[in-house]
Parts: sequence; structure tokens; C-alpha cells
Amino acid sequence: MIYVVLGLQFGDEGKGKITDFLSDRFDVVVRFNGGGNAGHTVVDEGKTYKFHLLPSGSLRASTVVLGNGMVIDPVALIEEMKGVENLTTRTRVVISKMAHVVTPIHKTLDSREEQLRGRLSIGTTAQGIGPTYEDKYARTGIRMMDLLDRDIIRDKIETIYRMKEKLLEDTAYSDANAREKVVDELFDAGNKLGKFLQYSEDLIYEEYRKGHNIIFEGAQGTMLDIDFGMYPYVTSSNALSGALSLGAGFPFRKVNTVMGVVKAYVSRVGAGPFPTELTGTAADHLRDLGHEYGTTTGRPRRVGWLDLPMLKYAIKLNDVDTIALTKLDTLGQMDEVKVCTGYSRDGKPLEHIPRTVSETAGLELQFKSFKPWGKIGPDRDGKMVYEDLPAKARDYVEYIEKELGVTVGLISMGESRKSTIERMKH
Ligand code: GDP
Ligand code: IMO
Ligand code: MG
Repeated sequence: MIYVVLGLQFGDEGKGKITDFLSDRFDVVVRFNGGGNAGHTVVDEGKTYKFHLLPSGSLRASTVVLGNGMVIDPVALIEEMKGVENLTTRTRVVISKMAHVVTPIHKTLDSREEQLRGRLSIGTTAQGIGPTYEDKYARTGIRMMDLLDRDIIRDKIETIYRMKEKLLEDTAYSDANAREKVVDELFDAGNKLGKFLQYSEDLIYEEYRKGHNIIFEGAQGTMLDIDFGMYPYVTSSNALSGALSLGAGFPFRKVNTVMGVVKAYVSRVGAGPFPTELTGTAADHLRDLGHEYGTTTGRPRRVGWLDLPMLKYAIKLNDVDTIALTKLDTLGQMDEVKVCTGYSRDGKPLEHIPRTVSETAGLELQFKSFKPWGKIGPDRDGKMVYEDLPAKARDYVEYIEKELGVTVGLISMGESRKSTIERMKH
């Protein structure tokens, strides 16, 4: 059984919760894109984990893989690994030798680039993601395997410095001693992580050949994809299902199920178009109900109504087989519930969803209203089946299914594992 779980909106759909929920049925959990910009929340018997680099299956799967498509801050990874009790004795942790390394210099560059963008700033997470992928494609990047050789690290840091000297002017890193300190830190981290480094694509394929179950966990969301998101208000990697082929070295044709995680409404952190965005007290109410504050940065998330045209686009691009619908409990507590069913301009329906700021101008949105269903959740024994949901909540779920032509296989009504309804056995 080969699964990919990924977000169909602007990230933070609840991928961490869903991946963890499924992970005890899988042998291997693989991350294939992004880095510390991701914040995936997993609640395990009352304890909350916020994974940034480790796959969300790290509490229950027997092997976890950080794939080559990721950009990894090795110092942050060591800290994150320490936060999971018995991780390395219980779980085989594998880090791709080819994943690229985020250094403190890349984080400084991220903030500098944002300043220079001025009015066009993206609102990045300042985790050095963009600059690290820039170096990867400029072929000056540092890879995890380089961390085992101090001279290679130094050569690459100095090359990056020469290429980015102007941007690094008047920062701590214009001082050669500060750069040498980075070399030391990276070499030290490399020594600690060396035993986890592998050509992970070989291991993943071997696990597949043995008939083991593998789940690929996407970071970010379709609308943040560098190509198909709302450029330039996107992240610097691909976030579509197909990205796993490149970001983990595993053939996409072998994937059995693409599970798209959809929050029952939409949230977005950072700048960029958001057609169904709510403002004023309704936005504040939804943000408070859903505790919509960034997992990585703590920033208040922008919130709005579910957007069906956007989901249709995401379903097509990712070839989604089934949806995991999250936060149905949150949405039901609003005073009114709406769904965007279409976009038009000058009274004429749009053929494509808007993907740039200018395409969003003058947009008219059509909405359908639903009656709110109030608080929902499992009983004290933690048992709940679909039929136990209030009819108004089921109306919402079934409307979405009908409009999207995809079944809602999982429904999440809370952050814990037991607050999940499984309509299809996965
Ligand atoms: P991810 O980046 O897609 O993994 O999502 P985040 O972890 O950044 O944000 C999702 C937040 O919603 C986390 O705080 C989760 O614990 C929480 N969450 C996930 N599913 C549900 C749900 O069904 N109901 C509620 N109330 N919270 C949920
Ligand atoms: P998870 O995996 C939500 C957003 C940032 C910013 C843009 C670019 O938790 O869903 P970057 O630091 O990647 O250069 O920022 O992308 N962003 C996310 N928003 N969830 C995420 O990850 C995100 N990762 C990046 O807020 O708008
Ligand atoms: Mg998140």
C-alpha cells in the first residue's frame, strides 16, 4: 500500500494529524519537500508535537525518511530529534545524503530578500527556504553528505558568500570568523547525523519491493506550489503529489492512493491572493475557534470560506482519490457557514481560477449557505461513526463530495486521533 497525503489549500490543512492517524498502518513515512517552513502538529495522548523536519509518522512508523527534495537545517533537526523520546532506538531514521542544507546564512538571506522585495514581500517563514533552493539550482548548494568534510563545507560557504556578498553586507556573516563558526557548527552537526545519512531512494525502493507500506507526507499545500500556486506568493518547492518522484526518488506510478487533506474552511499565512478571505469579526471568530496561528511563526492566519473551484483545480493537478476533511468541528460553531461555488467577472463564469493578484481584481464570487451544526465530537468512549454526525454536518460533507466528485474518506473533528471518522478503510 503506497499512499501520499498532501494539502490541497494553502498549507496547515491538518496533514500532520492525518499522517499520524494513518501511520500505524505504514512501515515507512517519507517527507519529500520543504523544510523548517512546515509545521505539522501531532497530538499523542495529550502531548503535542510540532514537527518541522521529521515526518509526522515519527511517533509510530518503524522507518522515517527525510528525502532528497527537502532542505534541512541540521542543527534544528538534532534538536527536533531530541524532542521525541526514544526516537532513534524505536525508529530507523534515514536522511537523504542529497538533501540540501539550510545554514544560518540562508536564514539571514531570507530576511534580507524579504526586505528588498518591499511591497512585493511574500511573508516567508524566514527559515531560509528560498535561498537554500536558490543555491541548489545554482549548483552551489551544500548537501547533507558534504557535512562530513570540513574543507568542502568551507569551500561551499565561501562560494555562497562570494556570490551573495552584496546581500550579506553589514550582517554578521560579512565577518570571516562568523562564517568559520558556521563551518564548525555544520561539521559538528554532520558528525552527529552522519550515521543516519543514506541514498534514501534505494531504501525506499527496497521497502516497496518487500511489499511494505509506505506513506509520503507532503508539506505546504497545492496553492503554495512554486509552479501551480499563486506565484510569487508561494514557497520555493513543488508541493504537488507528483513532487514525490523527484523529492524522494520513488516512481509516482507506483502510488496507490492520493489523499488530499482539506480543511473545512481555508487559512493562509503570509501575503498573496485569497479570494474567499473573511474580514472583521467573522474572521476573528473563525480564527479564535480554530486557533489559527502559525505553527512555525505564531503569526495569525488569514481565514475564509471553503473554495470549491480552487479544490477542483487541486484535485485535478494531484489526481486525488480521496479527501480527508479536517476541522469540521470548528466550522460548525460559526453563526453561518458558506462555501464558494464559483467565480465570475462581469457576470460571466471564469474558466480558470485566478492565480495572480491582477486576475483576482474585479472577481465576483458565488456562495452557497449552510446551517451550522454546532459542536461535534466523539462520545466519552471515543466512538463515533458517520451516521452519528448531525444531519446538517452530513449535508455539508455530502455536498462537497458531490460537487468535487471525490469521496470524503476521513473526517476529522478534533486534534486527537480518536476525533476521526473513517468512512473508508485505509
Ligand atoms: P499541517 O501543517 O497541515 O500539519 O497543519 P498544522 O498542524 O499547521 O495546523 C493544523 C492545526 O489544527 C493543528 O493545531 C492541529 O492540531 C489542528 N487540527 C487538525 N485537525 C483538526 C480537527 O479536525 N479539528 C480541530 N479542532 N483541530 C484540528
Ligand atoms: P505546512 O507544511 C502554511 C507560506 C509562508 C509564505 C510562503 C513562502 O505547515 O502546511 P517560505 O518560508 O516557504 O519561503 O514562505 O509560504 N508557507 C506556509 N504556510 N503552511 C506551511 O507549511 C507553509 N510553508 C510555507 O507563510 O506565505
Ligand atoms: Mg502547518
